[in-house]
Amino acid sequence: MTEADPKLIESHVRLSHSKLWEIQRNYFASMGIQAWKEEVPFYISSNAFIGHRYALVIVNFIKEWRILNPLHAEEPFYLLEVGSGPGKFSFYFLKSLKSLLTEYGLEAQKFCYIFSDVTEKNIEFCRENPCFQPYIQRQEMDFAHFNVEEDKDIQLIIGQKKYSELQSKTPLIIISNYTFDCIKQDAFEYEKDKLHEIQLALRSRYKNFDTQKALHLKELRFDFHKSIIEPEHYYENPILNEILAAYPPLFKDENAMIMMPLGAMQFCDNMNALTKSNFFMISGDKGVSIPWHFTLMGENYRVTYDGCYSFLVNFHAIGEYLKKQGGDYLLTENANNFKVNLYSMGTPFSRLIETTACFKAFVADMGPEDYCYFFDEFLTSGYRFTLKSLLAFVKLSRWDPNAYAIVHERILELLPLAEKVHVEDVKQELDKVAENVYPANMGDDVYNMMGIFYQTQNENDKALALYLRSLEVFGDKAAPHNNAAMIYEKQKNIPKALFHYQKSYQLDDTNKFANRKIHYLTGRPYIGAIVPVVKGLFIVGLIGLALYFISR
Ligand SMILES: C[S@@+](CC[C@H](N)C(=O)[O-])C[C@H]1O[C@@H](n2cnc3c(N)ncnc32)[C@H](O)[C@@H]1O
Repeated sequence: MTEADPKLIESHVRLSHSKLWEIQRNYFASMGIQAWKEEVPFYISSNAFIGHRYALVIVNFIKEWRILNPLHAEEPFYLLEVGSGPGKFSFYFLKSLKSLLTEYGLEAQKFCYIFSDVTEKNIEFCRENPCFQPYIQRQEMDFAHFNVEEDKDIQLIIGQKKYSELQSKTPLIIISNYTFDCIKQDAFEYEKDKLHEIQLALRSRYKNFDTQKALHLKELRFDFHKSIIEPEHYYENPILNEILAAYPPLFKDENAMIMMPLGAMQFCDNMNALTKSNFFMISGDKGVSIPWHFTLMGENYRVTYDGCYSFLVNFHAIGEYLKKQGGDYLLTENANNFKVNLYSMGTPFSRLIETTACFKAFVADMGPEDYCYFFDEFLTSGYRFTLKSLLAFVKLSRWDPNAYAIVHERILELLPLAEKVHVEDVKQELDKVAENVYPANMGDDVYNMMGIFYQTQNENDKALALYLRSLEVFGDKAAPHNNAAMIYEKQKNIPKALFHYQKSYQLDDTNKFANRKIHYLTGRPYIGAIVPVVKGLFIVGLIGLALYFISR
């Protein structure tokens, strides 16, 4: 903010030098888990499907690395997830990792999953989440407050040790989803044979924007400005200049934008030093992996706002950066927005044949974004599908609760017509969905939905358990209270039925059903019950009067 212009936060500077990155970090710190409850979309990177696909790649990698390095085959693997956010990905990934290790005959493999974020609130939230306690007790999970842009070592909160002190011989396995797009980057434009750097001036829509709390990110206004540069001498680091200078010849006469993911590259430098060039990274983000695709993208692709600002990540540049330092990379080369990519320091992909094959089949060819297209299709056109195809979709999702939520109504609709054997199929899949609900009050209340399913099947005990679980996880809501009350009433447990009807009515005073039940169960007359009678008498009276006058 300047005195002369209280809406100006910062005048034009090189994009990577902008205050934006700090403001964005402060936003996540202020909001904590609330960011996902309110604004930041995260389904594509936080569902059972992606958790399973990443785990498949990583288990293949662990298996292959052990064969290639028999001397260290028995040592633990450390996995670091950066920018873990609300922990939903971690939950699905860990579940799949555990079961796949067993399926691959590696159940004795020791590992420690390090959940990390720059935001303390996210770490606290996940440390206390009951779903992670078994992993913590088995020493399979730890936590770290870790800034991707700066930190050179990982301080384990539970283990009370730094990663460097562990002297690990196995490669550090890094997972990064939607983190590189919201940290420091540079942007360029190639136009008429000239390369321009993009500078950013930051303003806010109102005066005196609080950059520390940064609660109203969407009030920021960006003003981009470009000036010609010489790519050969732009950075102090010659490797970065080499990478940057190699792009314009690829574009020939076409205009193009180019991104340089400086924060991600700095992170790679730090991880290289920390692990002695021994790490394997899987990174999913909104970005570009085929350089000439930059010619297809105008300025409007550079940054989008979706609860936070997201800049396109140049995955190719990260790969080249590591390759020039002896590493290797494998990119998803398609036109999807959310691309998943592999990077390896220490073991080239030519030696990781099974990992490569697994990545191609299960991530690059049919990955998280492709799954989400099916999701959207079932969301909007579910009414067209049969019970069998709805179940196939739930299985494809790896029993993801949000996937069940979008087909729930249609399943209820089809149940009365379904053969008994198919109803049993549904129940079998539903048990797996129930195990996959991330215990946090965000998203669809799938427990309540599944309760309704079992109630329609007259399996009241099961339905009741699901309603009570719904109240535990998703908080006090009128619907599960009402549903639980109905079952207690059937079971003649009147005090409990009354308690839940009352709760339901307190939360939703339009719930006439609950109100009527409260009166009925407490033996008090229900005034509401005579309203229709009075209305009926009134209408009959009116008609009588009308007839009387007509017949006179
Ligand atoms: C867009 S969210 C992605 C969260 C999660 N990975 C997902 O896919 O839903 C970005 C996450 O990165 C964290 N973050 C932002 N800047 C960071 C930094 N410099 N170092 C580490 N984490 C950071 C935020 O706190 C937030 O949890």
